[in-house]
Amino acid sequence: MSIAHKPLPHKPLPHDAAALHVTGAARYVDDIPTPANTLHIAFGLSEIAAGTISVMDLSAVRAARGVVAVMTADDLPFANDVSPSVHDEPLLSDGSVHYIGQPLFAVIATSHLAARKAARLAKVRYEAVAPILTIEEALAAGSRFEEGPRIYTKGDATSAINTAAHVIDGTLDMGGQEHFYLEGQAALALPQEGGDMVVHSSTQHPTEIQHKVAEAIGAPMHAVRVEIRRMGGGFGGKESQGNALAVICAVAARATGRPCKMRYDRDDDMTITGKRHDFRITYRAGFDADGRISGIEFGQYTRCGWAQDLSLPVADRAMLHADNAYFIPNIRIESHRLRTNMQSATAYRGFGGPQGVFGIERVMDHGAHVIGLDPIEIRRRNYYAPAAAKAEQTTPYGQVVEDCILHEMTEALLKTSDYAARRDAVAKWNASHPTIKRGIGFSPVKFGISFTLTHLNQAGALVHVYQDGSVHLNHGGTEMGQGLFQKVAQVAAARFGLQMDAIKITATDTGKVPNTSATAASSGSDLNGMAVKIACDTIRGRISTHLAARHDCTPQEVTFVDGMVTAGRAAMPFAAAAKSAYEARISLSATGFYATPKLAWDRIKGQGRPFFYFAYGAAVTEVAIDTLTGENRILRADIVHDAGESLNPALDIGQIEGGYVQGAGWLTCEELVWDDKGALKTHAPSTYKIPAVSDRPDVFNVALWDAPNREETIYRSKAVGEPPFMLGISAFLALSDAVAACGDAYPALDAPATPERIWATIERLRDEG
Ligand code: MTE
Ligand code: MOS
Repeated sequence: MSIAHKPLPHKPLPHDAAALHVTGAARYVDDIPTPANTLHIAFGLSEIAAGTISVMDLSAVRAARGVVAVMTADDLPFANDVSPSVHDEPLLSDGSVHYIGQPLFAVIATSHLAARKAARLAKVRYEAVAPILTIEEALAAGSRFEEGPRIYTKGDATSAINTAAHVIDGTLDMGGQEHFYLEGQAALALPQEGGDMVVHSSTQHPTEIQHKVAEAIGAPMHAVRVEIRRMGGGFGGKESQGNALAVICAVAARATGRPCKMRYDRDDDMTITGKRHDFRITYRAGFDADGRISGIEFGQYTRCGWAQDLSLPVADRAMLHADNAYFIPNIRIESHRLRTNMQSATAYRGFGGPQGVFGIERVMDHGAHVIGLDPIEIRRRNYYAPAAAKAEQTTPYGQVVEDCILHEMTEALLKTSDYAARRDAVAKWNASHPTIKRGIGFSPVKFGISFTLTHLNQAGALVHVYQDGSVHLNHGGTEMGQGLFQKVAQVAAARFGLQMDAIKITATDTGKVPNTSATAASSGSDLNGMAVKIACDTIRGRISTHLAARHDCTPQEVTFVDGMVTAGRAAMPFAAAAKSAYEARISLSATGFYATPKLAWDRIKGQGRPFFYFAYGAAVTEVAIDTLTGENRILRADIVHDAGESLNPALDIGQIEGGYVQGAGWLTCEELVWDDKGALKTHAPSTYKIPAVSDRPDVFNVALWDAPNREETIYRSKAVGEPPFMLGISAFLALSDAVAACGDAYPALDAPATPERIWATIERLRDEG
């Protein structure tokens, strides 16, 4: 069926707030009208990367115009901690400093500008020590977040490699990535009677904000209510990085008795908050004569920054994606989580998965070059077996891959992208053009869906039906542009047989649904969609039972279709059914709760079933590079991606396009540069380049695979938020392919493949060859 004609809940409807977004009427935290006596907060930041504060003279700050109060760690009566994990992240420095940009004190003033200006008047003297910045420095100093490396193994990789027909080895460096959400971090705290606090926070994790605010104001969680209608993008950067703003606002509101608000200016946002983890991946791999992998050893080295934050699960996920789509009989993955004097690296779309996947894609690319196989062919030979083969192949961590659909997807993509003919055309072009070289790259993705911290895989919903038949919808998920609210509203409308305008989407609110997980790990619609379905079905069941008794049928025979409820011979509008139930004193309000089944995972052993299922995708990208300057363009991208039976094909295609472009940005133009003192030099769009509209591929063909999830997810859909990010790897591989046309050796290009790096790699290839 063409997607335009699918019924709810599979209809390609626009984002519920599309009109508000494009007209500028959508309200973000900074747009909420504030009481007249609201105060504004700015942080004073550390200017050195490591050491202790010897003198902090804040007299000029306190005397500055508009300043109402200045707070240091000594002014925090309760917890001085905004860590989402191990309480190692003071809100304000405890006297020691760990990176350039760390908040030392907070200025509370009558305006945003007054607070920021005053913050610069501090006179701080430090006892500096040498910062730990590089991987080498961290290894030498033993500066880590776990005692030694975490190691997952399967079989005997070393002997498999030593006896292999072809052996390759190498190192791949990949940079981190700034989230660059369009809306910066923001929070607003409104003090209530009796010490209670209401907090509006641009957060993917309202329960975490509630928890950290409660700790900081010395109150139980019931005294704090957190609300968020939408974010202007989160991308993982608002799982934990908003804690500091919300907590200082609440603490200052408690101290002053006035509403307090804070938003980071873009430079401060980039200087203070954590980014994607950069990685160095070392590899040694053995292939048999046919290009089948016999064994791999991976070393993964990541700079986690100064505090632990979510680095352990991020690094775990990198290990869990070191196989990507390939059956590897023998593997050893060694993961080093290094503590460095930089921003605390955090969640970012894919949560370590992209780094792990990029490692094995490099191995495949390198292997194809050395063995002389087509890069797609070598991959197909190593894919997990299709379901039909009944091969019982397991991942390195012991989960059986039951549904590998990449064989069929790749076959389809080869045809739709006209791969073989274009590969020949690229070779012909390169043979006759010395300056502009073309390249074509392919990468598949298999991404595990579920939080690897198993208990997080739960969600709640609260649904009210009013007596006029209108529906108030609430759940624990947050909206950051991905379309979660629209998808879940479609589920609710479908359960009641209603049109979309009958459903009111409301802000996420810790007072309505408690104990929620971050909207993350792509599981927002899986979890909240199910919780909402369960809540709706509870209400539907009550209405059915009530009407069945009156109209002489069984509850199962009552139907909810096209705005009508039919029971026996009676048919009535949904509103009449609701009214009838109300008058019979039947509750029209219900909660729903869902916990993902089948999960069992031991992260220390690295064994079990961390994921409910896998989402798949594949992409072919063609690029051109200028070998004299390294400048480059994506000419065409073709993608086929598996969103199961999509809840909203229009939104899901948007996620795939956006994910691909963001993934390609990570590996091409987006470059983070720290100087040798640990200062981030790329802290604004003037120096940090995200893809622009003009960087979108000229030809961009995105298709959904459109087959139901084998697992029982909400309407057999699949999570789609993160997996397509990894398809951007094909753009990097295409650039590498173009560079390879400049010499005989394998280019071993590092990421991001900026023009400078492309140019330097070409020069090196030419010198070598
Ligand atoms: N899409 C938009 N437009 N904005 C975002 O911030 N975040 C991504 C992805 N897609 C994001 C996005 C990330 S990191 C995740 S985990 C998922 O959306 C979260 O939403 P979901 O679970 O509802 O897919
Ligand atoms: Mo996404 S990195 O799981 O918020």
